Amino acid sequence: MSEPIRMKNNGQISIMLNVNKREKIKVQNKPIPSKPLSHEHAVLNEIENEMNTLVGMEQIKKMMKEVYAWIYINKKREEAGLKAGQQVLHMMFKGNPGTGKTTVARLIGKLFQKMDVLPKGHLIEAERADLVGEYIGHTAQKTRDLIKKATGGILFVDEAYSLGRGGEKDFGKEAIDTLVKHMEDKQNEFILILAGYSREMDYFLSLNPGLQSRFPLVFHFPDYTVNELMEIGKRMLDEKEYTISKDAETKLKDHLLYVRGIKGDTFSNGRYVRNVIEKAIRAQAMRLLNEHHLERTALSSLISEDFIFPETNMI
Ligand SMILES: Nc1ncnc2c1ncn2[C@@H]1O[C@H](COP(=O)(O)OP(=O)(O)OP(=O)(O)O)[C@@H](O)[C@H]1O
Ligand SMILES: [Mg+2]
Repeated sequence: MSEPIRMKNNGQISIMLNVNKREKIKVQNKPIPSKPLSHEHAVLNEIENEMNTLVGMEQIKKMMKEVYAWIYINKKREEAGLKAGQQVLHMMFKGNPGTGKTTVARLIGKLFQKMDVLPKGHLIEAERADLVGEYIGHTAQKTRDLIKKATGGILFVDEAYSLGRGGEKDFGKEAIDTLVKHMEDKQNEFILILAGYSREMDYFLSLNPGLQSRFPLVFHFPDYTVNELMEIGKRMLDEKEYTISKDAETKLKDHLLYVRGIKGDTFSNGRYVRNVIEKAIRAQAMRLLNEHHLERTALSSLISEDFIFPETNMI
């Protein structure tokens, strides 16, 4: 699109045609100040900045922008006397350990609150034991109580596939039925996110044909590449005010390449990087313990010997 979009103070979108002609007029008459796009959409900028703290995740970043646009336009439609639509925002997250599912769910809660999609935006994390009871009727009650707690925010059910584990007679099925009922009755009061490892989640969905269609947003969280893992690690270090030497960086990269290869689907991605870094920080502290002059650079630098990796057969 060649015409620049301008926001007026009342938030209306107006597309300016014939920009060149306007420029000429501007010289003669003082232009009426129009709010720049970035001001009007300050919340979107904030959201994008927060999302950009995450490495990769392009699909999720795009979805956040789409939801933002939809809410914004919906408000404008209401103001113009048009019908405001409703959207189902329940989601499914599929991915291996440590691929950022919980992190993203938390962020979505926070950002949806900023966007006014959710009044509270808090995240209630639950797993099978929090939903499934021990006797008939107990499960429905437990599940309802959790939904109540999650009202205004997100109910995040991790390892959701475990609800389908026991088959027809298992109380897990009752939990699913209760969830499905409430996610429709209370569609706009809370957002349900079911998360789990890809293969198990696919199996789980195949057990409940009605389930898939109730989750219009399905996100796959792929394993990170070694470069992405390094970037995640660097951001973690940056946040903690540490730097990493070139040697240490190479050592860490080689190690990640190796572990990622041998662990396959059980490799814990971002969590593995976090653990390695936290261990290196402790090792650095030990190394510095007997030094007398602790300057800023020494205090913030992680070097190769701080990264101690277990023997190959212990990984
Ligand atoms: N894209 C990313 N950018 C920055 N940090 C990330 C990213 N993905 C994961 N991490 C970090 O990796 C760690 C593990 O992430 P998280 O707990 O969200 O994973 P998960 O998918 O919920 O794992 P699990 O399935 O085992 O519960 C966290 O410390 C998180 O901050
Ligand atoms: Mg998690």
